[in-house]
Amino acid sequence: MLMDIKKIIIAIDGYSSTGKSSFAKLIAKKYGLTYLDSGAMYRGVTLHAIEKGFITPSAEIDFDALKESLKGLDIHFEVAQDGSSQTYMGPRNIDREIRSLQVANLVSPIATVGFVRDYVNDLLHLFGIAGGIVMDGRDIGTTVYPNADLKIFMTASAEVRAERRFKEMKAKGENPTMAEVLDNIKTRDHIDSTREVSPLTQAPDAIVLDNSYMTFEQQMEWVDEKIKAL
Ligand code: DC
Repeated sequence: MLMDIKKIIIAIDGYSSTGKSSFAKLIAKKYGLTYLDSGAMYRGVTLHAIEKGFITPSAEIDFDALKESLKGLDIHFEVAQDGSSQTYMGPRNIDREIRSLQVANLVSPIATVGFVRDYVNDLLHLFGIAGGIVMDGRDIGTTVYPNADLKIFMTASAEVRAERRFKEMKAKGENPTMAEVLDNIKTRDHIDSTREVSPLTQAPDAIVLDNSYMTFEQQMEWVDEKIKAL
């Protein structure tokens, strides 16, 4: 490997619930990189909009009020004692709340708003300035870091993804039906890939990883090869 791993930028994009964040965390741990979860930023803005009443349950957005409020909004990451990255809104840890179904249902419309994307992208650039990062999202390899050293585009069947998300939510004490979760995944796929601003698309130089039937070990072997080849 010719690259300085401490300065490397790895961009992981793909559909929701393809295991991007679990994979990114494993890579970060193995190679001593910082993991940055761009989706958590969009979820944080969504939680903020819900709490302030800037978005209704049927996703009507008060654009002016939301835009104004972003000027004073502090969403950032902090590393917890166990080494995990936690999302904060000011002094408040919001890592759990941003994973609720309510936030999941409203995050895609919020993520289609141009000024929200500008707000998040500015922060992501600041966080990643020194390199040594693995960032996951939808437009990291295309918009946020088009010069990333390694771009991975993750995919898996909608049914496999729904099953994963369903188990995750059950483990957290939520009680959705399988149909609700599958519906949420399909709706988000559609909104994420058809929105006008920065849609989910595969960068021409991204390498596709379909992990429908792969274990984490197999995925790590796959990425070790790609990193070695840099
Ligand atoms: O990765 P996630 O499911 O936590 O992302 C939440 C939402 O945020 C997802 O529906 C799409 C959006 N998102 C985005 O538009 N761009 C990113 N870089 C990351 C997430």
